[in-house]
Amino acid sequence: MKLKLWIGLGFATLLTACSVPDQEERLANQGLPPSDFVGDKNLGRELYSKNCASCHGLMMNGSTQGPPLNHKVYEPSHHANLAFYRAVKDGVRAHHWKFGDMPPQTQVTPKDAAHIIAYVRVRQERSGIR
Ligand code: HEC
Repeated sequence: MKLKLWIGLGFATLLTACSVPDQEERLANQGLPPSDFVGDKNLGRELYSKNCASCHGLMMNGSTQGPPLNHKVYEPSHHANLAFYRAVKDGVRAHHWKFGDMPPQTQVTPKDAAHIIAYVRVRQERSGIR
């Protein structure tokens, strides 16, 4: 009886260890949040001002260090959320503007990035950028 229970438990552990974390781990390795994670724009506002505003401007209108994110170039169809996650994780080689490269923002977790993106999209939408 006991043995059966242990075998059952062992099997269940093996199953969860092999299947579920794999997918989530893959997302994490790519700098993406868990698949069911939903960003919160209010948390995003704070995280944005702490991590992005020095270059992209507190109102997302840019600065001498970086371009405005509240700009048609960064609308969702042109720069999907994936581009934001990638920018945070790996940084950006200067290509659209003359500000230089964006350094990776390694202090920003994938979940933090999801909050920030939620905030950016709300602001963009308010400016008619969608
Ligand atoms: C040290 C300055 C700096 C900081 C801090 C910074 N950025 Fe950037 N970012 C830049 C510059 C400069 C570019 C423009 C590169 C180009 O296209 O020429 C850029 C470009 C981007 C892009 C466009 C990526 C692409 O694929 O073209 C995104 C998205 C972005 N930043 C998001 C963020 C977010 C989100 C944060 C905060 C977590 C952040 N940035 C913090 C300087 C910065």
